[in-house]
Amino acid sequence: MVVLWIVPSDEDASRLQTIMSIKPTSATGSASFPKFHPHITLAALPPSSTLTLEQLQEIKKGSLSNDLQIPFKSVNKGDHFFRSVYIAIELTPALASLHARIHSSLDVEPRTPRFPHLSLCYITDEDDAAGEHRTRWKDQLEALGILRSTATGDGIELNCSLGGASEFWMSSFTAYEIWFVECIGPVDSWKVLDKVRI
Ligand SMILES: *[C@@H]1O[C@H](CO)[C@@H](O)[C@H](O)[C@H]1NC(C)=O
Repeated sequence: MVVLWIVPSDEDASRLQTIMSIKPTSATGSASFPKFHPHITLAALPPSSTLTLEQLQEIKKGSLSNDLQIPFKSVNKGDHFFRSVYIAIELTPALASLHARIHSSLDVEPRTPRFPHLSLCYITDEDDAAGEHRTRWKDQLEALGILRSTATGDGIELNCSLGGASEFWMSSFTAYEIWFVECIGPVDSWKVLDKVRI
């Protein structure tokens, strides 16, 4: 299946990956905690889809702004491998418009559960059942002091500091690209087919 991902800049991706790479030592050898690129799934393309990069550019131009902000609302534990622990993103008018336009152009109902969200880790149902690993992974963010409410209280921020900097609190990012990704088989065999600059 080919899906469309909203992706941050390389620098913001590296920042988010400092958090996404936190693994319990007990995870070795299990299918949990595969490495994947930070993304928000915007659409799953139907098999018959002929959506081109040019069409995607047009759809994107028609949505509300060029500067597509991705504000973090909360960190949630989910109930599915692909939504084990995720950042719930605020559904801004611009994001809602982009999501709606893509689906009307594809002429399909959206199949994007919990849109918009950015997954932080994938944990198998078996591992979760064996020790509430999704809850524990989420709780550790607060315990480690890297997740807190924003000063205004309407969102959250994560300390995604890079290269030994003392702190860098991230409460949003600017969408940078839309990627076409072929998601077949294990997570580490997913293939990025194309990238469009937003
Ligand atoms: C933020 O993260 C960095 C890198 O992990 C860490 O060294 C620093 O102590 C953290 N700062 C705060 C205020 O939590």
